[in-house]
Amino acid sequence: MTPAIQIRHLTKRFRTGFWLKASTALSDLNLEVARGATFGFLGPNGAGKTTTMKLLIGVLHPTSGEAFLFGRSVREIAIKRGIGYLPESPYFYDYLTGSEFLYFYGQLFGMGSRALKVKIEMLFELVKLKGAEQVQLRRYSKGMLQRIGLAQALINDPKLVILDEPMSGLDPMGRKDVRDIILRLKEEGKTVFFSTHVLSDAEMICDQVGIIVKGQLRNVGRLEEMLNPKLKSVEVSVRGLPEGRVHALDPLSKSITTKGEESLISLQDEEALPQLIQWTEREGGKIVSIVPRRETLEDIFIEEMRGEAT
Ligand SMILES: Nc1ncnc2c1ncn2[C@@H]1O[C@H](COP(=O)(O)OP(=O)(O)O)[C@@H](O)[C@H]1O
Ligand SMILES: [Mg+2]
Repeated sequence: MTPAIQIRHLTKRFRTGFWLKASTALSDLNLEVARGATFGFLGPNGAGKTTTMKLLIGVLHPTSGEAFLFGRSVREIAIKRGIGYLPESPYFYDYLTGSEFLYFYGQLFGMGSRALKVKIEMLFELVKLKGAEQVQLRRYSKGMLQRIGLAQALINDPKLVILDEPMSGLDPMGRKDVRDIILRLKEEGKTVFFSTHVLSDAEMICDQVGIIVKGQLRNVGRLEEMLNPKLKSVEVSVRGLPEGRVHALDPLSKSITTKGEESLISLQDEEALPQLIQWTEREGGKIVSIVPRRETLEDIFIEEMRGEAT
């Protein structure tokens, strides 16, 4: 089966300013996303995420390279029937009600009134906007607009959903709702390609992530493979040691921070843990907590960004 998304050597340069100087927004991007996968596209502002998405839905044309959705070039108009898209800053028709707005988009896809009515009711439920159907969009909050935008992206029951920063502007509850919707889309077998800079959101729902910095894809892969399964460190909090004694642990630990009565000892791995516990008891101290730290997406992201700085 052909992948949902195939991107080959995609490059986009913009000519800007009075002298039309060329700047590269996207440089030789190669990427494949399997059908049914949830792909998180991560990167700081200006990295090229939105540009990539616009190239995928065919509203921007590449300087070079090509993209395919389900094996067909994005230049083919017909493939758009199977795609849903939530833009980064959606433009809304202020004086339409939520329901009219979805109705309008459904009609664009050639859906009949009866099918649309059922679909719209289902979508209001899905994005938790029930009760706001007859409210004008200008009265919607930022979070509500983001939800109705999401509903709009799903109106045509797309096989592939492209969401540009779907969690932006939402509070933690709202972000969780969007995560749940994405998980539901995955259960329905849909392919989801979304961008975010909220790393923890991606970590919880993606099978695959790509990290893009300054138009270049830096790292891509399955999350489990990217994250080092080994413990990054174990952080042990100890109380009541005689003053200064904690530094007897220097050879054992990565770092020691003392604040008042309590010392935080960071160990490289679990192996030194029994030794530390025994030693603490002998010294008359008390273990307050032991926290294993695994590598997170955040760690990888910071590493990639650091590579950029140097
Ligand atoms: N229409 C445009 N004209 C000129 N430059 C653009 C245009 N769109 C994006 N860019 C530039 O391309 C780069 C990538 O932008 P973008 O894809 O929006 O990044 P992201 O979505 O990751 O924040 C930025 O440097 C941006 O200024
Ligand atoms: Mg963007």
